[in-house]
Amino acid sequence: NNYLIIMAGGIGSRFWPMSTAETPKQFLDILGTGKTMIQQTVSRFGDLVPIENIFIVTSKNYQAIIQDQLPDISDSQVLLEPCMRNTAPCIAYAAYKIYKRNPEANIVVAPSDHLITDESGFRDVVSKGLEFTSKDDVLLTLGIHPHRPETGYGYIQADSEAVSGINKVAAFKEKPDLETANGYLAEGNFFWNAGIFLWSAKSIITSFVSHLPKVAALFAKGEEKYDTENEQVFIDENFPSCENISVDYGIMERADNIYVMPADFGWSDLGTWGSLWEKRSKDENGNSVVGDQVHLFECKDTIVTVPNNRPVVLQGLDDCIVTEANGVFMVCKKEDEQRIKEFRSVVIDHK
Ligand code: GDD
Ligand code: MG
Repeated sequence: NNYLIIMAGGIGSRFWPMSTAETPKQFLDILGTGKTMIQQTVSRFGDLVPIENIFIVTSKNYQAIIQDQLPDISDSQVLLEPCMRNTAPCIAYAAYKIYKRNPEANIVVAPSDHLITDESGFRDVVSKGLEFTSKDDVLLTLGIHPHRPETGYGYIQADSEAVSGINKVAAFKEKPDLETANGYLAEGNFFWNAGIFLWSAKSIITSFVSHLPKVAALFAKGEEKYDTENEQVFIDENFPSCENISVDYGIMERADNIYVMPADFGWSDLGTWGSLWEKRSKDENGNSVVGDQVHLFECKDTIVTVPNNRPVVLQGLDDCIVTEANGVFMVCKKEDEQRIKEFRSVVIDHK
């Protein structure tokens, strides 16, 4: 009864200009491992989920990339959105479709662009989590011990009592401001939301009905179309009018049956240049360089990613991002990386 929904429709705008709307970061081999992020995502589940129970929800624009990168996933397992409406509609669509196939389905929802180094530890956590969610009307998320006041994540406040490693959640706060995030870190009973969710099809549908009733109604309306030749027509006609909201704001901040399983499997959201800098190897001054003709003078804690054969001289940079990709050159402060979306729009809007 195990199913997997992989969310793969984002454009990775905080990883611009390496990640672009044409080829966003889930389809790139960011760490140079030989596998793209989405290929790694599929393979880390091993045999926890039968391959035919994997659904990838993405934009129509990425259908060909997915066929190319994941040849074992059939076209019928790739759900195509005609436009971006964030993660709540993406999950609702897949959940209603899976529920029609199997009302007893137990679902893992995973982002397509994370790094997890301990894959067997990851599978142990997920299989324990699935056992928990198969028995109760609960929404389970995986919690990561926070080590910096990151404002790009959701924060989970755990109730103190854990029953076999799973805590009830007291409060969920998506993307707090810096001051709030610092406060959470000081309090100590907060986790980062890993963005990986476990629940039964029944429970998540019940939550949509309670907390995002319009989204629920829209996808419920398509029930008899799913798995027929009319599915795509129905989606193309109705999806654009769906509310644009993430599952974190729409469900996780609102529901009161949320649980968290603290997990430690080498998780990293390679969401930003800063998180990539944390993962990459660095010289004695904390600089990490990709590019074979980069010369650094008095630089510190700086991440550089430029093409090979591109002579680059950098002096006096501290805590910066320097990158040239897809015809764009950008230098900015690492601490301002959440503004890269804004920097990107300046260039994109002028094209
Ligand atoms: N199909 C589809 N459609 N997928 C989408 C869409 C969409 O419109 N928007 C985003 N995604 C995919 C992304 O490709 C990514 O794999 C995943 O959904 C999560 O979206 P992000 O946009 O990367 O979310 P986030 O990083 O800002 O925040 C989420 O992840 C954090 C941890 O990485 C939240 O769940 C946070 O609470 C969490 O801490
Ligand atoms: Mg992300």
